[in-house]
Amino acid sequence: MLKEKIIKIKEDAQAAAENAKTVEDVLQLEIQFLGRKSEFVGILRQLKDVSVQEKKEVGQLANSVKVEIQNLLDQKKKNLSSTFDAQVEKIDVTIPALKMRRGHLHPLTQIQNEIEDIFTSMGFEIADGPEVEDEFHNFDALNMPKDHPARDMQDTFWLKAQRNTDKRQNDTYENINERMVLRTHTSNVQIRYMEKHQPPFRIIAPGRIYRNEAGDSTHEHTFHQFEALVVGDEINVGNFKFIAQEFFSKFFKKEIQIRIRPSFFPFTEPSFEFDISCTVCGGKGCSACKQAGWLEIGGAGMVNQNVFVASGYPRGKYQGFAWGFGLERLAMMKYKISDIRLFHSGDLRFIKQF
Ligand code: DAH
Repeated sequence: MLKEKIIKIKEDAQAAAENAKTVEDVLQLEIQFLGRKSEFVGILRQLKDVSVQEKKEVGQLANSVKVEIQNLLDQKKKNLSSTFDAQVEKIDVTIPALKMRRGHLHPLTQIQNEIEDIFTSMGFEIADGPEVEDEFHNFDALNMPKDHPARDMQDTFWLKAQRNTDKRQNDTYENINERMVLRTHTSNVQIRYMEKHQPPFRIIAPGRIYRNEAGDSTHEHTFHQFEALVVGDEINVGNFKFIAQEFFSKFFKKEIQIRIRPSFFPFTEPSFEFDISCTVCGGKGCSACKQAGWLEIGGAGMVNQNVFVASGYPRGKYQGFAWGFGLERLAMMKYKISDIRLFHSGDLRFIKQF
């Protein structure tokens, strides 16, 4: 009797295990078939009432069935949990990978690199100078002494710090305490370079500059300029025009004409403003050039001999031309950008277009 019951339990357990769908189901079966309140355990309790002989036989059978059911359920659990894991972690190696977002150089850096490439291809060297500059290199040496009205042309950020510098005056050096500024132009690099190098040379100096002024769509307190300086024995305005024309034609990838107009800068004599033929209409007149046919670029001129002297060259020995203009303005022309403030806005919708 008891034996048959045990066999029946075993068969029921096997059938139930067959139908179990989840690990949870199997845990339930464990309780149902082997738990404290199960029929199986009830049968074991009845063993005390049977004969010694039957107790022995039924006991052995019960033990082996218990082990069998337990093994069956353990195996089932294992199978179900391994199919479960496989589903969660299934990797489809044929799915295309997610695209990585790639960053890129800031548009101004790209423009600067492009400019540097064009000039190095024409035999120019790239020069650099400090953004925190002393008064001598930013102003005095560029023929802008302290009381010179031209200093008012540039709104300056003055720093509290002072620096001890050797300043050349009338062919001797004086050691003085200089007030410091955030450089107002890249022209300081002219002096810095000439103090260390002898002509002939051609350099450009791109860099960040600062002006103490309120911003609008064409002005920022922090922006970039790009200085050129060519010095030798027989440099003249014609050389300037040629180099400028070459550069702008390469930069805008079309034939560009140069026009110069008289102007004034303390560090050049003669001084001029220079324009390029309109990059949109080529000179006929359009809305981009306000019907003028020309676009204003920046200042230039033949280096004032006082600047050579302040840099340590003998007066009258060399000639050179220099120019300086805004990098942002050039980028705005090339890409038809209407507001200079976009460059440093950090707005990715703008940056990503380049
Ligand atoms: N430094 C001038 C400025 O920031 C620009 C300039 C004009 C630079 C004439 C030059 C130059 O080298 O020759 O306004």
